[in-house]
Amino acid sequence: MEPFVFPKWTNSIKYLLLPGLLIGPLYVVALVAYGASPKTTDVGYMPTQPVPYSHALHAGQLGLDCRYCHSTVEQTAAAGLPPTQTCMNCHTGILNSSAKLQVVRQSHSDGMPVEWLKVHDLPDYVYFNHSAHVRRGVGCVSCHGRIDKMEVVYQDQPLSMGWCLDCHRAPEKHLRPLDRITDMNWKASDPVVEGRRLVEQMNIKPSTDCSTCHR
Ligand code: HEC
Ligand code: HEC
Ligand code: HEC
Ligand code: HEC
Ligand code: HEC
Repeated sequence: MEPFVFPKWTNSIKYLLLPGLLIGPLYVVALVAYGASPKTTDVGYMPTQPVPYSHALHAGQLGLDCRYCHSTVEQTAAAGLPPTQTCMNCHTGILNSSAKLQVVRQSHSDGMPVEWLKVHDLPDYVYFNHSAHVRRGVGCVSCHGRIDKMEVVYQDQPLSMGWCLDCHRAPEKHLRPLDRITDMNWKASDPVVEGRRLVEQMNIKPSTDCSTCHR
């Protein structure tokens, strides 16, 4: 009997398969390593910013609304960071020679944006959208914690897939009226009853399909 021999053309296939075999596992390792890096999962991650800007002072004590600076949060996927001009609206006059504002004045004069460091950063293979949440009654505090009490912003919630899904499966207790989205002190008198009412009134049905967040 003839021994079975692979036809000659299969030789070239192994060169085609080889990169896949090597890169496949590397890709998985990279994905897992990236997914597990402190930037994406570490609650408490708190990088030192180029300017000692305090939310506790500006959003807490002075009572500025979040949307004064994060002005695209209701319209687009990104909440956005304020341009230097927003700071200069006040700091052209207030503390206009403070050393702590040197970087802001420099940015204002040379037109280069302040290089704020990202605190929250989902992996690129995840799709997230701010407006889809804040226009459906999920407030900033549910995902970012008491920003109005933070001298330096840190990550308050895990931002893991399980965390997203927990709320998508049972959003009731996280919902609030749309005019309370940025109110850090607001609490429902009865979160379950009020939540259910909002679910019905706005027909809230968060999706748990993979393609909602991985597209
Ligand atoms: C006067 C402008 C201003 C106001 C008002 C303001 N912020 Fe900010 N916010 C900033 C700036 C500047 C940064 C970037 C530096 C930093 O992280 O502190 C920032 C950063 C953040 C971050 C972290 C962004 C990242 O990199 O992941 C979150 C979350 C945030 N703000 C939420 C809020 C919330 C919620 C409110 C309202 C309670 C608010 N901010 C009010 C200016 C503002
Ligand atoms: C609505 C006005 C207003 C806006 C807008 C504003 N600030 Fe302020 N900021 C203040 C006031 C008021 C103080 C406190 C002044 C005091 O302590 O007497 C302050 C204090 C500060 C300080 C502390 C300075 C020091 O020497 O103690 C920093 C830093 C600062 N702001 C950065 C920023 C940055 C960065 C932005 C833009 C993202 C910004 N501020 C936007 C009003 C504002
Ligand atoms: C459902 C959860 C959730 C809610 C509600 C939410 N955020 Fe975020 N926020 C996130 C996540 C997740 C990121 C990281 C996004 C990324 O890496 O792509 C983020 C990032 C940010 C950033 C960094 C810049 C950007 O655009 O990515 C700012 C600023 C911010 N949020 C402000 C706010 C403010 C202000 C509100 C309320 C008006 C709010 N967020 C409501 C989850 C949320
Ligand atoms: C605290 C509750 C909560 C958390 C946490 C949360 N979501 Fe949502 N999400 C909602 C609600 C409520 C809606 C709106 C559902 C509706 O419109 O019926 C929504 C909608 C969405 C949509 C829009 C879906 C569409 O059909 O347009 C995306 C995308 C999404 N969420 C992604 C995420 C991701 C990614 C995370 C985690 C990083 C996350 N969400 C965390 C409550 C939450
Ligand atoms: C509501 C949003 C959401 C939905 C729905 C969702 N994911 Fe994810 N997924 C995420 C987020 C956020 C991460 C990033 C987790 C991290 O950074 O730790 C993630 C990470 C992953 C990863 C990377 C490995 C890991 O665990 O870090 C895989 C694989 C994955 N998701 C598969 C799926 C599959 C399959 C489905 C459908 C059954 C699904 N996801 C549905 C939000 C979602």
